[in-house]
Amino acid sequence: MLRIENLHAFYRGNEALKGVSLDVGQGEIVALIGANGAGKTTLLNCVSGIHTDMIGQITFNGKNIAGEPAHELVKQGLVQCPENRQLFGVMSVQENLEMGAYLATGEIQGVSLAKRIEDMFLKFPVLKSRRRQLAGTLSGGEQQMVAIARGLMSDPKLFMLDEPSLGLAPIIVEDMFRIIKEMKNEGRTILLVEQNALAALALSDRAYLLETGRLTLGGSSTMFVKDDRVRRAYLGNDIDVEHIFDDLLD
Ligand SMILES: Nc1ncnc2c1ncn2[C@@H]1O[C@H](COP(=O)(O)OP(=O)(O)OP(=O)(O)O)[C@@H](O)[C@H]1O
Ligand SMILES: [Mg+2]
Repeated sequence: MLRIENLHAFYRGNEALKGVSLDVGQGEIVALIGANGAGKTTLLNCVSGIHTDMIGQITFNGKNIAGEPAHELVKQGLVQCPENRQLFGVMSVQENLEMGAYLATGEIQGVSLAKRIEDMFLKFPVLKSRRRQLAGTLSGGEQQMVAIARGLMSDPKLFMLDEPSLGLAPIIVEDMFRIIKEMKNEGRTILLVEQNALAALALSDRAYLLETGRLTLGGSSTMFVKDDRVRRAYLGNDIDVEHIFDDLLD
């Protein structure tokens, strides 16, 4: 579905991505893990058309999309849920959701805007009781739910999540991972950037490791969890490899 080939990205001449190639298949959850500053957000921003100082090939469903503006890509089903949520703080929860469907022009695959909002409230009941509250006054966890719901409003073909658990209390983090797992069960294709590498690996089919602008490892998430280097740098040594998948996903 998504294929990136030899992508280089720059900030005023500084190279943040140094020849990255990866792909995401239909229905897959692919995790992108890496330390702070590795270039994860830059990569998502290149794909979604937000970061334009780049060279390389990006194809989405067989079509070259490199250089296309972000709003065109949203129409094609490529949607990013940005780091730090970036909600419209002075708009209500409901208005934020409506903004998510803005480019989808009212009806999405025959489903009305009102129905779609109701669907989101079924999925995130806490948001229903807060539908008129200004998004900027919600808790961090609630804001993250709005950000995800806003992205889902346009029924993305590929949903890119940038650090959905960032800054949330542990119990809310668990909720967030449950929501991602639900999306996985619904068959949604997701590219997931997460600092919480263990959870990201438990949720994903495949993973890539990004280190200072280069992919240094790629493979099945099960293989990642067992990889010595990944364990040392990102998971710690004390985890019980045999049980983490069960524990996290039950
Ligand atoms: N707007 C910018 N101007 C200049 N340099 C930038 C800018 N944004 C990012 N960079 C640099 O590009 C590199 C990659 O940053 P990026 O935000 O993509 O990393 P990241 O992996 O998402 O990190 P984090 O885990 O902290 O979110 C870093 O060295 C960063 O300093
Ligand atoms: Mg980032």
